[in-house]
Amino acid sequence: MLKIENLHKRFGDLVVLDGVNFEVPEGTTTVILGRSGIGKSVLLKCIVRLIEPDKGKIFIEGKNIFELTLKELNELRKNIGFLFQSSALYDSMTVKENLAFPLLRHTGLTNKEIEERIKEILNLVGLAEAISKMPSELSGGMKKRIALARSLILNPKIMLYDEPTTGLDPVTSKEIAKLIIEMQKKFKMTNIVVTHDMVVALSTADKILLLENGNFIFEGTPEQLLNSELDIAKKFLSTKLD
Ligand SMILES: Nc1ncnc2c1ncn2[C@@H]1O[C@H](COP(=O)(O)OP(=O)(O)OP(=O)(O)O)[C@@H](O)[C@H]1O
Ligand SMILES: [Mg+2]
Repeated sequence: MLKIENLHKRFGDLVVLDGVNFEVPEGTTTVILGRSGIGKSVLLKCIVRLIEPDKGKIFIEGKNIFELTLKELNELRKNIGFLFQSSALYDSMTVKENLAFPLLRHTGLTNKEIEERIKEILNLVGLAEAISKMPSELSGGMKKRIALARSLILNPKIMLYDEPTTGLDPVTSKEIAKLIIEMQKKFKMTNIVVTHDMVVALSTADKILLLENGNFIFEGTPEQLLNSELDIAKKFLSTKLD
């Protein structure tokens, strides 16, 4: 479904990605762990070409995304949902308008169909009552759910989650993790989840990758991570109890 080959990205002298390779099979969840500033967001942004890598290949559904025309790339992007690290809702729009935005832009749905789709997705994330609220009236956890609803509203086949639980309390974080799992099961989604949150990592992952100094220094199942002798893996695991 998603394959990354020899991806390189530097900013000036700073080498962020130094020949990264990985593959995410269809319908599975890969979690990327790594310290702050190590390049996790850069990696996700390369996948949707918000950042252009210096070198490397990215295949989505077998197509090299660097060989696509702009039109083909835009078509492909519709199949990819991106939950940004900052929820990035439009502050001057209601929840409903925020959710209508991608539908108006990318589909030919009628107003009635749009309204139905919005209600359906709000039910999925458990926030039907928030439809007329402004983002400023929502808690951090609610904003994340609405942002999640917005990234899911076009039924993407691939979801990229960048720190879906940062700034949330442990209970809300667990609920978000549950939603990620639920969506994956329901829609057979292919997920990449970038996170510091070990509860999210261990509960959602089929495979965990640990990014350090431009490359992955660990690749394995949650169970293999739990048994890993790597120092940095142990450090991440110790945060689970914080
Ligand atoms: N557009 C950019 N221009 C220059 N440097 C950048 C740019 N984007 C990211 N960087 C640098 O690349 C490095 C990796 O950044 P990135 O945002 O990927 O970190 P991260 O692993 O997502 O960290 P965090 O966990 O804090 O979100 C950082 O040193 C950052 O300053
Ligand atoms: Mg980041």
